[in-house]
Amino acid sequence: MKEYLYYSRHARTSGNFDMNNLMKAGRMDIACQIIISSFFLSHDIRKDVKLHLVFDGPPDPPKHLELFPGENLKANNENKIIHFSKKDVAWVIKKVLYGYEKYKKRKKDNEKVTVVPGYYVEKKPLESVVDQFIEEGKTVFILDRKGEDIRNVKKLDNVVFIIGDQDGIPKDKIRRIKKKGAKLISIGPKTYFASQVLTIIQNELDRREI
Ligand SMILES: C[S@@+](CC[C@H](N)C(=O)[O-])C[C@H]1O[C@@H](n2cnc3c(N)ncnc32)[C@H](O)[C@@H]1O
Repeated sequence: MKEYLYYSRHARTSGNFDMNNLMKAGRMDIACQIIISSFFLSHDIRKDVKLHLVFDGPPDPPKHLELFPGENLKANNENKIIHFSKKDVAWVIKKVLYGYEKYKKRKKDNEKVTVVPGYYVEKKPLESVVDQFIEEGKTVFILDRKGEDIRNVKKLDNVVFIIGDQDGIPKDKIRRIKKKGAKLISIGPKTYFASQVLTIIQNELDRREI
């Protein structure tokens, strides 16, 4: 399985954003591109990808969304499916964020909400999500131009790759995550868009048959 986390400092943390102006919703357009790069191939959907989105924008940060549609695609009960298509990924984000708002009156603040199987949301900061990965025995890599070249890293299975937004991951967060054991990894000397970074990693993992 391939696992990624996209961190966005400004992405909105409520479902009430304008789908016609995703840039204004804390660059939700980038989160949408990340979803497309995570799950869509030409004429196919990647069923072995789990994507975490951590949003720190207004009005109710932080939010950790977990998308694992592969799990969901196996379900055949129409009512339990979020229809997942390339043209309405913003709607998927909206639906998951609204899921939190709908259930939060009944749930405790830190309880994970299953919006529908395969789509989860909780109020959790990046650092705590990383704690969870470490507890699960996963290796955590922070994508950073100055890190170790991915081509020199032998073991890339059971790994979570953390990618930053247009401003990069804040330095204090990087410092705290590194203290937990995360390492910096690079895909080369140029600075790529977040979604391009994800595609390049997908390609590397595909070539290694992970
Ligand atoms: C558009 S870049 C952010 C640019 C931002 N000004 C900065 O300096 O971090 C988005 C994210 O892609 C990742 N990234 C971009 N180029 C990379 C590279 N060559 N190697 C590893 N990660 C990269 C980083 O995680 C970065 O936070």
